[in-house]
Amino acid sequence: MKQTQSEQVILEKTEDFVKSKLAGDTTGHDWWHIERVRTLAVSLAAAEKANRFICEMAALLHDVIDDKLVADEAVATGEVVAWLVEQQVNASDSAEILAIIQDMSFKGGANEGKVLSLEGQVVQDADRLDAIGAIGIARTMIYTGAKGRPMHLPEKQPRERLTLEQYRNGEDTAIMHFYEKLLSLKSLMNTPSAQMKAAQRHAFLEEYLTQFFAEWQGER
Ligand code: ADP
Ligand code: NI
Repeated sequence: MKQTQSEQVILEKTEDFVKSKLAGDTTGHDWWHIERVRTLAVSLAAAEKANRFICEMAALLHDVIDDKLVADEAVATGEVVAWLVEQQVNASDSAEILAIIQDMSFKGGANEGKVLSLEGQVVQDADRLDAIGAIGIARTMIYTGAKGRPMHLPEKQPRERLTLEQYRNGEDTAIMHFYEKLLSLKSLMNTPSAQMKAAQRHAFLEEYLTQFFAEWQGER
């Protein structure tokens, strides 16, 4: 069981590495988001028979090279490569972990439309699941509050699509974000296990919106 032990040690050390990188984050990428994505990724990996170590490592590292968090993605990527080498993660696992976190960070970039490995699909699903359901609603409200935006503007159609300029000017609300992003995530899940979880979380979003609008009108 030497191999398993050393993977356990690598995971523990990587947890500390990630915690130090995310300390003081105010962009919604706090440690607990990482911890939830990790838990989901481990559970999905078991159900989908994906490599657990790769999924767990990629889940831990998935936000540390994101341009929303770091000034220079190339520098941050270099640090992750150096970290994996230092931990003596083997070359093929390292390459796979790195490919996953790069595909997840550079959204809509050169990797758009690229077919992910099973492990990549699992970690992407885990990250997307954390954006829906009760947790997803809480994250959306926190994000909206941090941006100083209102939770809802009744004169705006919730399904209205914002132009980039309107978005930059802060003309976005928490409720609009449901229609811009949250309600579309269910159909983007890669794996059957994530589709099942997403169905429950999606139903909760819809129930929440029904209750929200009814309360807004004073109907309930
Ligand atoms: P990630 O990098 O984890 O995929 P984001 O950085 O896009 O996610 O968003 C972090 C959290 O903030 C998510 O829960 C997301 O739904 C929420 N969020 C992102 N953009 C908005 C927005 N315009 N309004 C409200 N919530 C948002
Ligand atoms: Ni994330």
